[in-house]
Amino acid sequence: MANNKSEYDMIGIDYVELTENSWRLPIENYTLHKCMLQSLLDEHELLTGKRVLDLACGHGLYTRELKALNCDYILGVDISSEMIKLANDIEYQEPKGIEYQVADAKQLKPPETLFDLVTAFYLLCYARTRDELLEMAGSIHTQLGENKKFIGFTTNIMNYDEKFDKKKYGISRQVNISLEERPIPDGTKVFINLYNKDEKKICTFTNYHFSAVTYEQVFKESGFKTFQWIPFQCDPRASNKELYDQFLQCPNGIGIIATK
Ligand SMILES: C[S@@+](CC[C@H](N)C(=O)[O-])C[C@H]1O[C@@H](n2cnc3c(N)ncnc32)[C@H](O)[C@@H]1O
Repeated sequence: MANNKSEYDMIGIDYVELTENSWRLPIENYTLHKCMLQSLLDEHELLTGKRVLDLACGHGLYTRELKALNCDYILGVDISSEMIKLANDIEYQEPKGIEYQVADAKQLKPPETLFDLVTAFYLLCYARTRDELLEMAGSIHTQLGENKKFIGFTTNIMNYDEKFDKKKYGISRQVNISLEERPIPDGTKVFINLYNKDEKKICTFTNYHFSAVTYEQVFKESGFKTFQWIPFQCDPRASNKELYDQFLQCPNGIGIIATK
């Protein structure tokens, strides 16, 4: 996993700047709040009393979103010390009571008190092999209380065709595999490029492809009772909805909800 660590240690601040003001708000954030979190919220639409673990938290974008829902305790974990430093700097400037830790999500110790919710926004796509994906799912399982939920995003496992070159959205992805080699084998590298407003490539990082069936099997093998795919949706009130509707024909990510 040293590769991921050095990758994010180097691109940390670019990742933050290039992704904070993008499609993430009208699409990712909307999908998270409207299609994934709702069944977990109380009558005040909050997570009051809940213990939450946010894996692959990066600079804490979603860790802060979840904390804003009033959870009792939240721990953000990331393998990159640079990303955790960025998260801690933000916490230092505006304290919210979030704890952060540098750790590999595949090698977490069982917690003293189990979590009510484990999240991982773009962790599973860093598993390089099926065994690593299984380790991640197993690790998530050991952190969760019985009947509690995992929610997360991963790189979209469908629609890998060349149509997805959406520099104008600030992101593109590429697999170096010809059409004859489809379906794409598990463990294939997916190169994600981030662009600035002038469509200039600023950084690249590597994800790994696994089929929908492999994800579903791995979660089942880890002991999860349910597994559901949640397609991205766009906020109907988004000002440039037409632009995003096009993006959604071939989105870069997809949601997952699984129950222990
Ligand atoms: C695309 S970023 C997502 C960050 C954040 N969740 C977000 O949505 O903005 C992926 C993050 O996964 C982290 N990561 C990759 N492999 C990991 C692992 N095995 N354990 C913990 N974090 C990992 C990287 O360091 C990086 O910060």
